[in-house]
Amino acid sequence: MLPSLKKITDLNGKKVILRADVNVPIVDGEVAVGADWRIRAILPTLNYLSNAGAKIIIIAHLGRPKGHDMHFSLYPVFSRLKELWHKDKIFFSTEVIGKETENKIAKLNEGEVLMLENLRFHKEEESNEENFSKKLASYGEIFVNDAFAASHRAHASIVGLPKFLKSYAGFLLEKEVSILGMIRAKPRHPLVFIMGGAKADTKLKLIKEFLNKSEAILLGGILANTVLNAKGLSVGQSLVEEKLLAEAKRISSASNNLFLPTDVSVTESLARAKNIATRKIKDVKPEEFVVDIGPETIFSFKKIIKTAKMIVWNGPVGYVELPDFRKGSLEIAKAVAENSGEKIIGGGDLIGFLAEEGLTDKMTYISTGGGAMLEFLAGDELPGVKVLESWSK
Ligand code: 3PG
Repeated sequence: MLPSLKKITDLNGKKVILRADVNVPIVDGEVAVGADWRIRAILPTLNYLSNAGAKIIIIAHLGRPKGHDMHFSLYPVFSRLKELWHKDKIFFSTEVIGKETENKIAKLNEGEVLMLENLRFHKEEESNEENFSKKLASYGEIFVNDAFAASHRAHASIVGLPKFLKSYAGFLLEKEVSILGMIRAKPRHPLVFIMGGAKADTKLKLIKEFLNKSEAILLGGILANTVLNAKGLSVGQSLVEEKLLAEAKRISSASNNLFLPTDVSVTESLARAKNIATRKIKDVKPEEFVVDIGPETIFSFKKIIKTAKMIVWNGPVGYVELPDFRKGSLEIAKAVAENSGEKIIGGGDLIGFLAEEGLTDKMTYISTGGGAMLEFLAGDELPGVKVLESWSK
């Protein structure tokens, strides 16, 4: 059982630290068009706290910066939230910890919000330093975690803060745990996973778990490149996670329900499509980048998707940022949309892509979690959820 926000009897004037996951794609200093779904998802909790008169301090991360790097500033997210919410009631601090934050918190009125800069500008966030959690905790009286998508990370703002403040689950986190919990308890078979996109480290770890629990796992993106490379095939200039090669090799040779691309689309430049071609995987040239799955792979993946009673999909199967390389993901998306079983979708880039293609309403459930959704479905206890549960006792 999670401790629900609704249990707090008097929020008026209370300083509430709200951990949100608003990790969304930023393009040219703005939240990418149509990519604000994670920001919208925290509005029910934000409205509830604000209407009850709480003084809210939002803490969050963006991307994976190495130290203080303004390319990863949360300011664009703040600007979008301001447009979506009450623009006269929300403020920004250009730091996480320090005098500016302290002064701005002191000036907050009931129902107002202060958003702090990117937590990951401090290495203590990811290394879960106790003093960092303690300092953050000193800014509030109550902690609310609504960041389901980051709750698989044992970071200071996720697992450290609840050691110092009475803690609750936000409405989004509660909803994700409840719906994904039902899906996890009753998986339907044939169960097919589709995994693409980046963050191969998180996904590879889970493939092992899902191999025994599913009928097929279809791979695209960096993950597919890494496994192909581990099997001794060249993927040209494509990004490959070197440190995962040994594990990728072990997993792929031990399984017969892991499906890799047999043909791919390639280009000689990622910045703009140049000399695009379709190649059998063994024919990829050293100067080329693999950017999408090819027609033969689309055909065989679609055949498998058709048989599924449940589909879990995280991450596009190609480099969908460029229009020329969206075909594979679009064909797969249409096949998933046409399937009459349950379709569970997660991961920022994929959701943005499906929204742009007008296909989100064809899916059964869209989770704000990427890695968190997969870890939860694999049966793992998410550290951020576990620590909250200890507060309901
Ligand atoms: C996500 O986008 O999946 C979450 O925000 C977690 O991000 P991370 O993988 O960089 O920890």
